[in-house]
Amino acid sequence: MAKKIVIATKNLDKLRELEIAFDGLPVEILSLADIDDFPDAIEDGETFEENAEIKARFFSEKTGLACLADDSGLEVDALDGRPGVHSARFAGYHAHDVTNNQKLLEEMAKVNATESPARYHCALCFVDVDGSKIVTTGTINGTIRTVAQGEGGFGYDPYFYIDENKTMAELSTEEKDEISHRGKALREFVPKLKEWLTCSLE
Ligand code: IMP
Repeated sequence: MAKKIVIATKNLDKLRELEIAFDGLPVEILSLADIDDFPDAIEDGETFEENAEIKARFFSEKTGLACLADDSGLEVDALDGRPGVHSARFAGYHAHDVTNNQKLLEEMAKVNATESPARYHCALCFVDVDGSKIVTTGTINGTIRTVAQGEGGFGYDPYFYIDENKTMAELSTEEKDEISHRGKALREFVPKLKEWLTCSLE
């Protein structure tokens, strides 16, 4: 029988990505859109790992099901690692990609930087009903430049250069998954989930 796993997201792109990664495994994936309307978990951790675990525990306890959560963001060296865990709301509570990118450019200007080493980081945390957890992470290093390029991706991608000439926003979805922080964390997670499924279905 398929094991039910709640994915702590309402983001359809993330959900689709996970459904593809879990294809063929005996799991039934539910999203937050499929279950009762719970309040948001309070993500007050200081690291991506802490926030992913806060979310996974919160929704596992609320639903009584195993839960997978992720947390990700951008760290820019010239900004002492900001926006970090505040990436989604860098420009404030109602922030979105455009305002976050404006804020990024403003903060870069304040420190007189037109480019800086940077990285995207992703943490995945899976919490089982017995409280045990699996955590995996992924990172991609690059450079933030204050000149946008490309129309794809989302978030800070038009400013995140993976090499001299190309930004994350110029990659196809498949190319991005190959090298992205989220893709790496997911590829490390899938074999661990398979192990968990073997043990829990015995
Ligand atoms: P969350 O993990 O959904 O909380 O997203 C954190 C925030 O980090 C997003 O809203 C984006 O601003 C940023 N972020 C995370 N991953 C990416 C990415 O792959 N490209 C661009 N921005 C990202």
